Amino acid sequence: MAKKKGRLDFIKMKKAGEQVAWVTAYDFPMASFVEQAGMDMILVGDSLGMVVLGYEGTIPVTMEECIIHCKAVRRGAPNTFCIGDMPFMSYQVSDGDAVYNAGRFLKEADMDAVKLEGGKRVITKIKAIADAGILVMGHIGLTPQSSGVLGGFKAQGRDPESARALIEDAFAIQEAGAWALLLEAVPPELTQFITKKLDIPVYSIGAGGPCDGQLLICGDMLGLFQAFTPKFVKTYANVAEVEINAFKEYIEDVKTGKFPTDDHCYHILKDREEEYYQMLKEYE
Ligand code: KIV
Repeated sequence: MAKKKGRLDFIKMKKAGEQVAWVTAYDFPMASFVEQAGMDMILVGDSLGMVVLGYEGTIPVTMEECIIHCKAVRRGAPNTFCIGDMPFMSYQVSDGDAVYNAGRFLKEADMDAVKLEGGKRVITKIKAIADAGILVMGHIGLTPQSSGVLGGFKAQGRDPESARALIEDAFAIQEAGAWALLLEAVPPELTQFITKKLDIPVYSIGAGGPCDGQLLICGDMLGLFQAFTPKFVKTYANVAEVEINAFKEYIEDVKTGKFPTDDHCYHILKDREEEYYQMLKEYE
């Protein structure tokens, strides 16, 4: 069993040019498979709203839902660095809310760190969480909680003005005390620039290769989430197809009497068979 990694390991990996591989997970079985595979870290993303709860976006996701899923993930992956994703309205209203809710991820769900979306506009929240001694990761570029403001799930930082704003956000996030930064759906050139300029690890989801590691959503990479697949996803399996085919085969077996067979049944105790049949006879 590999030792659980921590912040210093991720900094060492950045310095050594070693890539960090991480995915989202939302439940016990998925987390245990991720840990068994040897993943460097896990994000319990608020994408759980879309991938496992069937919401249309991440906005409806609550703190309570996040805590339940984080606890399940921790039980499944006790030796993996886990990040709890702060849901919409758990940190926007005040610095106090941000610290209180970030603390819940650590106290109630045993997460190692939290992540929140936004740059300068949430900088006092990032600073307050970091000052409370909680590892906080920034997340800029395509930030799904503000997709309405961004005009949809669209790539960001493709023109000089918006790229400049993201660079300024990245500097501010490091300055505020974040331990790492996630860039989502921005051009690789911008990712490379920000990664070189920052001392903290910079990770990508849909932001290209030149940085310190890659994140994918488990539902996307496993072919579990069927609503849409972003351009940046590489699909490694078609689990939905495997599951649907298994369910179809089961239906067929039940309808045709192929399941269950004798192998799937519990049997009467060998030394009590006679008594058993006698007892049944009493009811005839
Ligand atoms: O919720 C999530 O999974 C995320 C990713 C989109 C980065 O925040």
